[in-house]
Amino acid sequence: MPVKEFRTPISDKPVLIGPESGKDNIIFAIESSCDETAAAIVKNGREVLSNVVASQIKTHIEFGGVVPEVAAREHLEAINVVIAQAFEQAGLIADDITAFAATVGPGLVGSLLVGMNAGKALAIANDKPFIGVNHLNAHVCANYLNTELEPPFVALLISGGHTQIIEVKSYLEQKIIGETIDDAIGEAYDKVARLIGLPYPGGVNLDKLAQTGNPFAFKLPEAKLQNEYDFSFSGLKTASLQLIQKLKKEYEELPKADIAASFQENVTSTLFKKTKKAADNINAKTIVLAGGVAANSEIRKKFFALREQGYKIYAPEMKYCTDNASMIASSAYFLANTTGNLEIEVFSRMS
Ligand code: KG4
Ligand code: ZN
Repeated sequence: MPVKEFRTPISDKPVLIGPESGKDNIIFAIESSCDETAAAIVKNGREVLSNVVASQIKTHIEFGGVVPEVAAREHLEAINVVIAQAFEQAGLIADDITAFAATVGPGLVGSLLVGMNAGKALAIANDKPFIGVNHLNAHVCANYLNTELEPPFVALLISGGHTQIIEVKSYLEQKIIGETIDDAIGEAYDKVARLIGLPYPGGVNLDKLAQTGNPFAFKLPEAKLQNEYDFSFSGLKTASLQLIQKLKKEYEELPKADIAASFQENVTSTLFKKTKKAADNINAKTIVLAGGVAANSEIRKKFFALREQGYKIYAPEMKYCTDNASMIASSAYFLANTTGNLEIEVFSRMS
């Protein structure tokens, strides 16, 4: 079990963080990597004491997607309110906090800067350590919230920016065993949603519509790749575009629900098949879903059905699937990929 020593920024005192610190750790975390401004307080990586999310969806509907400059400005407007609410909801003050954490990447640089600087400011003002957190790691850690999940397990990380199968060997060791070679799954959802005329945010709207359509109405292609655990969604995107163009000529009204259902069936069965194979190959009986697309109804259905075969399947509660700060606090506590000093900078992509 991990433990790391961090230092307070003013008096340079050591503070132990992690399951082996021997003390309760109460972590205040901020998330602002994309279009949610969030703050949360979590005790010992699992017990959520407060969870506040201000969504920018309403603003971005107007533009049909996230405009980085607009997002950064909205974060600036929301951040102080969200921080105050997180303290209030938990009934705590800054003195009760063991350390402050914030997402440092990957994400939109302007947006990340707002959250990270707020986190650093809180750390300096209260002389508590600052912990920089990797957003992708944090999505996986969302599964520790309110559960007793422990590694080892296989995680399927599916979000707007990433699609990865990860072998989580311990709290600190993670190995990517498959990933997308082009588009992320969330991106594919959002693009196909736009093609059939659904409003932003595309993924969840396509999911809803798909539930009313026939998943076998149209056959869409599946990419064949060298590494059997890798993914590719760009060919599927093109095939979906071509199908929609063809159907527009044939039908007076586009059969949107059937297209949505056929697309959803195609991608969810690919994600399911590859992840199960990876888990079986390394003898893992625990599979964990993470990231915004883990909120998808069909993905959850397919994986949860594996419980009947003796697998343990975890997926975060809906509110912890999409971006939130509780997962950032949990990740700061369990320590994989964290950095604890004020010199740390934001980064937009994994290099
Ligand atoms: O993890 P997340 O909140 O942000 C990133 O870190 O990317 O994921 C956002 C992505 C978006 O592409 C969104 O359309 C997708 O998750 N998403 C869904 C669903 N809910 C959110 N995709 C499919 N079905 C859903 N129910
Ligand atoms: Zn995310």
